[in-house]
Amino acid sequence: MRNVFSKLAATTAMVAVLILVNRAVSVPQIEPVPKSAPTFKPVCDVHHLMEGQELHFNAIADLLKDAAAKGRHSKIAMHADLLAELANVNTLNKDKDDYRAWASQVRDLSLQLVAEARKKEAASDDAMKGLVTKISDTCTACHDVYE
Ligand code: HEC
Repeated sequence: MRNVFSKLAATTAMVAVLILVNRAVSVPQIEPVPKSAPTFKPVCDVHHLMEGQELHFNAIADLLKDAAAKGRHSKIAMHADLLAELANVNTLNKDKDDYRAWASQVRDLSLQLVAEARKKEAASDDAMKGLVTKISDTCTACHDVYE
């Protein structure tokens, strides 16, 4: 009996060593970090980017109106995160300080909305609605000058 156990222990140890060795060998080579990061250029047409922002914005507004919507908080977090990324890209669409500031503001407010929605049941509807109003005011501020 003792023999069987010690054989089993030895086999287990050998398998563990093989797994470890195999892992060590299969670790991918780390690419050297380039000295200067390549410049990021948006590839999406501004009209389409705006329509994308609108889709996510409207989806959030609809979810906020529907307290019984399934997976409401995760969906709000997902749409707000994507809205934040589109706004992040939008900061690069015009080389003007006010344009970039408004686009950054939509990004930052959307990220605050993601953080609030991630609190799930503890998330405050008033806080989320307040952020949506601020986002909408920022869309309008930029449109008044640039649309
Ligand atoms: C930093 C500036 C800026 C912000 C912020 C901004 N937009 Fe725009 N938006 C524009 C510009 C510029 C246009 C006009 C694009 C054009 O005609 O080339 C536009 C146009 C639009 C259009 C018309 C679509 C089209 O085909 O041109 C919609 C819809 C839109 N925006 C939605 C939004 C929403 C929703 C937000 C906020 C979540 C927002 N935008 C925030 C700059 C902005």
